[in-house]
Amino acid sequence: MDQIEIEIKEMDALYFDKECASYHPSNNELLEKDIHEYQHFKNVIACFYNYMNDMKVELQRIKTHFETLNPDQRNNLLMNYQERIKKLDYCIKKNANFCFLIVAAYVDMFPEMDLSQVKFVSDLPYFPHAQHGDISKLRITLKQFYRDWSIQGQAERDQSYKPIIDCLQQYYPDAKTKDKKYQVLLPGAGLGRLVFELASRGFAAQGNEFSYFMLLSSHFIINLTQKKNQYELYPFANNFCNRLSENDQFELVQIPDIVPAEVLTENDQMSFVAGEFITVYHQEKYFNFWDSIITCFFIDTANNILDYIDTIYEILKPKGIWINFGPLEYHFANQFSETSIELSYEDIKHYIKQKGFEVSFEQMQESTYNHSKLDQKYLMYNCIFFMAVKK
Ligand SMILES: C[S@@+](CC[C@H](N)C(=O)[O-])C[C@H]1O[C@@H](n2cnc3c(N)ncnc32)[C@H](O)[C@@H]1O
Repeated sequence: MDQIEIEIKEMDALYFDKECASYHPSNNELLEKDIHEYQHFKNVIACFYNYMNDMKVELQRIKTHFETLNPDQRNNLLMNYQERIKKLDYCIKKNANFCFLIVAAYVDMFPEMDLSQVKFVSDLPYFPHAQHGDISKLRITLKQFYRDWSIQGQAERDQSYKPIIDCLQQYYPDAKTKDKKYQVLLPGAGLGRLVFELASRGFAAQGNEFSYFMLLSSHFIINLTQKKNQYELYPFANNFCNRLSENDQFELVQIPDIVPAEVLTENDQMSFVAGEFITVYHQEKYFNFWDSIITCFFIDTANNILDYIDTIYEILKPKGIWINFGPLEYHFANQFSETSIELSYEDIKHYIKQKGFEVSFEQMQESTYNHSKLDQKYLMYNCIFFMAVKK
């Protein structure tokens, strides 16, 4: 297959919308304040650029291992090994091009990352800034596009986002018509689909996120796409295991399935704020501020889940509601260098009530996360779905 030429597009400076003054990584003042943050941002950018080179290692591994098959073994396979390598190579280039587009606007910030001579994604040099582990974060980000912005992801969105949306709309049935909009905060918003869904239903929805992988990607898809299915991705291309058919791993994902700019009107309010949830929001100006807080696959990302709950309590208005959906797969469990308070739901519920919430309903609901139907292996979470009202 042909080389894929890099499509460089003019991009505006990074911002989500006028409400979102705090999210502006290209703002020098913000970055100079924190050299470490700047370095981290550069590492993330490097990781996006390095996708092609990191995946070449994967491609080489596959090639080398297949070459150990004897001619008989090769000839008696249904799969044509050369074809498989070609397909994989093509998918990697398409993904690399997409990764490149997401971060192309920031290249000027790092003169040492000189791309002036690069015409094809396969010519991208390797930037040694990316850190170990970042490539897996980038792979997860690509799958997250599947969950949030593809038509195939709808089934998963129906499992987790739909019950939340229904619950919020039931509590605030006048959201669409009310002059003063209900303020809804979504910490750990990922690629922002749920934020968009709520904004389009009349809520003043604010997403909060601390991962540059997510922030750069959500900015790209929400603010910079012009048409439906504008981009093609192969987020599962490097996953050869648990496949029923040879082509399943090359599942094409077109994004976005909906263009936010075509749906949202002047009247809608959607914003994103970058930063760590507690650091950003545990401030007096946000106390008793939010009508609702939505945590979807989020509360278990805390070092100490009780700190999250304390913050949620402080910043909700009296009679405000907290809707939670997700498992308790404590992200820092088994990381010895990190604090990790791992509590059962029973204990969490007890704490929530002690704190001054009334749990008005709770149920268990099954949901997958970033799962493609073509993958035979999947994890089904029995998620805790509850609504708690601040008394
Ligand atoms: C499991 S993902 C869920 C994303 C999204 N809510 C969804 O359902 O697809 C958790 C998200 O929370 C973000 N996150 C984790 N800890 C955070 C924190 N303390 N402050 C802000 N965002 C955080 C992560 O970067 C990640 O995008």
